[in-house]
Amino acid sequence: MKITAQELRVKYLNFFKSKGHTIIPSASLVPENDSSVLFTTAGMHPLVPYLLGQQHPGGRRVTNVQKCIRTGDIDEVGDDTHLTFFEMLGNWSFGDYFKEDAIKWSFGFLTSKEYLNLPLERLAFSVFSGDNDAPRDEEAAGIWRSLGVPESRIAYLPKDDNWWIAGNTGPCGPDTEMFYWIDDGTPAPENFQDTHHDKRWVEIWNDVFMQFEKQADGKLIPLKQQNVDTGMGLDRTLAVLNGQSSVYDTELFSEMWEVIELDQQIMTNDEVRKARIVLDHIRAAVFIVTDGVEPSNKDRGYVLRRLLRRAMVMGRLLNLKHHWLESLMGKVAATYVQAYPPVVEKSENTFKVILAEQQKFEKTLEKGLKEFEKLIKNHSDVGASFSRPPYPSEQRHNPLDEAGRLKAAPAIMGLTGKDAFDLYQTYGFPWELTKELAEQTGQQIDKTEFEEEFKKHQELSRTASAGQFKGGLASHSEKIVRYHTATHLMNAALRKVLGDHVWQKGSNITEERTRFDFTHDKKMTPEEIYQVEVAVNDWIARDLPVKKDILPLEEARKLGAIGVFGAKYPDQVSVYTISDPKTSEIISREFCGGPHVEHTGTIGKFKIQKEEASSAGVRRIKAIIE
Ligand code: SER
Repeated sequence: MKITAQELRVKYLNFFKSKGHTIIPSASLVPENDSSVLFTTAGMHPLVPYLLGQQHPGGRRVTNVQKCIRTGDIDEVGDDTHLTFFEMLGNWSFGDYFKEDAIKWSFGFLTSKEYLNLPLERLAFSVFSGDNDAPRDEEAAGIWRSLGVPESRIAYLPKDDNWWIAGNTGPCGPDTEMFYWIDDGTPAPENFQDTHHDKRWVEIWNDVFMQFEKQADGKLIPLKQQNVDTGMGLDRTLAVLNGQSSVYDTELFSEMWEVIELDQQIMTNDEVRKARIVLDHIRAAVFIVTDGVEPSNKDRGYVLRRLLRRAMVMGRLLNLKHHWLESLMGKVAATYVQAYPPVVEKSENTFKVILAEQQKFEKTLEKGLKEFEKLIKNHSDVGASFSRPPYPSEQRHNPLDEAGRLKAAPAIMGLTGKDAFDLYQTYGFPWELTKELAEQTGQQIDKTEFEEEFKKHQELSRTASAGQFKGGLASHSEKIVRYHTATHLMNAALRKVLGDHVWQKGSNITEERTRFDFTHDKKMTPEEIYQVEVAVNDWIARDLPVKKDILPLEEARKLGAIGVFGAKYPDQVSVYTISDPKTSEIISREFCGGPHVEHTGTIGKFKIQKEEASSAGVRRIKAIIE
């Protein structure tokens, strides 16, 4: 192996440290105080406030390796490049350096001997070709040329390719991307503009020049500062650097392959895809649970449940041996022990949560399979028995074919999309499972019909979680800022009324409410709820000043600052303090990126709407300000 994952992480961080960057830890996969997405989907996501102008405790240059979850392309998972969990290496300028340094350093890291030492002949670069929003990026192209990149290896591409934004609104700008020609025995083509679609050019790095903020009405407004956001996908870069054609062939998956004991050499392509899905989904699930999410039917919990159930179904179709899940989770933990110690530290709980979901699903899986058999019998004269899943070898030589009926006969339109949706609703069968099972009995199901049913259902649940996609850190409306400060006061009041065992486990703020999860193992009494409301409203009425300080972590801890339970903080932290200047009483002191109001008097009237269980030992409050 030419380079290991840990070497790549360390090299990257050290390179940017040598260029004056502060190394900061990965943020949680669960976005803190941001309701615009369910998971951290890119390195830039937790850093949005700093791209918008807030001061980062680590200064104006930081570098990190950020854990990310992207489920948008979940159907592609299992091909050579798509993953739901991945790590992103990044370097950041918050209004400090811009195009010239960003490009020079990218070039230096890629080509210099001490770092990646990649030959220039196998590299190519793309820059933004320009439109009404921003000009053709001759500046970026000129910088690449000044470093020795031939003109022919620079492509000018439109917004679809060379413009970056996370979602629909927020900081954005043109980017320049770096491509590496994989080692397949052929030399890299000279002209990149004409060949950039060739899959052998693999994009390994993206330098985004964030100069604009896109508003909800689609308008771009220049940001107060010019930023740099770069992202290099670790798995993908590792694969190409080591001459591997798939991200699933890297060392990050090698121990997992050993556990499932399937020989890729003799597997069909479909079996390989299923096995890759198992590996990807279990790895992602371990990281998601480590960051505090549990399977449920809503939001993040639902995504996690879907990943786990899909992996379990695939595991069953592959007939993986007993206890494969335990062994696989153990290998995920072992693979990441150095880079992410909490994956091991919290493994007992993680394994418990995932195995409980497996137990639960196994039961419905059995029932669902029986129901499926019934449906099949009703719809056709073809019987089916799924009491034992077929072995991969049986799938290859489909026994039903041997009967001479199914292979020759055209597919039977038997099961309806509605049947598939009912199986999904009642037994948690993902569409894919029903489809795969149906295919094994020679049936096809109408996906459009299933999707229509699904859409109806989604619309209902979307209405329920509509707030999820509004607001968020990218739009710091005045209302959201008031909610932020109200949440700090509520945290302080809960500790005052219930005791110091109360720790924040998570929060989620929209324009309509604040949602706050905290450690406490009993239902709050109406009296306690009333006392919390009174305390918060009293602090609001006293119009207390809210002050921000940037302090070394140790000092902040000594001052009694509190944060999110189990969260990791950088060496320099920003701390918000709410105190009474008349009595010098400290009401609240929390690690927080902000933003907050300057005086509590502007918050409004605080009211708790709901107090309920969130998970074992964790309560959840929904509160509003009027
Ligand atoms: N935000 C960009 C990306 O995710 C660069 O980090 O690709």
